[in-house]
Amino acid sequence: MKRPFVIAIDGPAASGKGTLARRLAAAYGLTHLDTGLSYRAVAHVLLRHGLPLENASAAETAARQLDLSGLDRATLSTHEVGEAASKIAVMPGVRRALVEKQREFANTLPGAVLDGRDIGTVVCPDADVKLYVTAAARVRAERRFREILAGGGEAEYAEILADIERRDARDMGRADSPLKPAADAHLLDTSQMDIETAFLASKKLIDEAFAAKNKT
Ligand code: DC
Repeated sequence: MKRPFVIAIDGPAASGKGTLARRLAAAYGLTHLDTGLSYRAVAHVLLRHGLPLENASAAETAARQLDLSGLDRATLSTHEVGEAASKIAVMPGVRRALVEKQREFANTLPGAVLDGRDIGTVVCPDADVKLYVTAAARVRAERRFREILAGGGEAEYAEILADIERRDARDMGRADSPLKPAADAHLLDTSQMDIETAFLASKKLIDEAFAAKNKT
């Protein structure tokens, strides 16, 4: 195949899109990029240097210097970094710099699965398959709550739900590249679906796109 095969997955926080993206990348032999980690890494640079999150020029410089191959999930997964990431993600200069790197990642053979908020709409508008994975906020909060408890942590369900609702409002309400399904995205509501069912449903759509691409 001469052109990279690209799968774009978007959706709100805790929708299950990351798990789905990893499984699809493994199944099709594609690389995977969690683009949320790139926004988190920029926020982490500011936090580490004690810079205010409103410092757009420092955030933009950090975004331009970011190396996508060195993103460390363990360091970047904290709640504090996630909150900070959603603040710097509204800055157009930060988005421009990161989107350019994400496109380069996607355009490398054999292709890639990218997950985030604006992959199907902005980063890869020509992706071969676009999925928009969502679930009711209370279902997402419950999943996150169980995950934390299963990991031996402590959590308050009401706080997690409030946090998810706040994050949704910020991601969907921003002026630059708000979270929304691309017009040609396949909607996957996982409120009543486990990961295996979501994986099989996605695989069917992707196999069809794959076959169509190999015919042209
Ligand atoms: O998916 P996450 O929680 O790791 O994302 C962290 C923040 O980055 C989130 O508030 C939304 C933002 N983000 C974005 O604006 N665009 C993306 N493609 C990915 C994440």
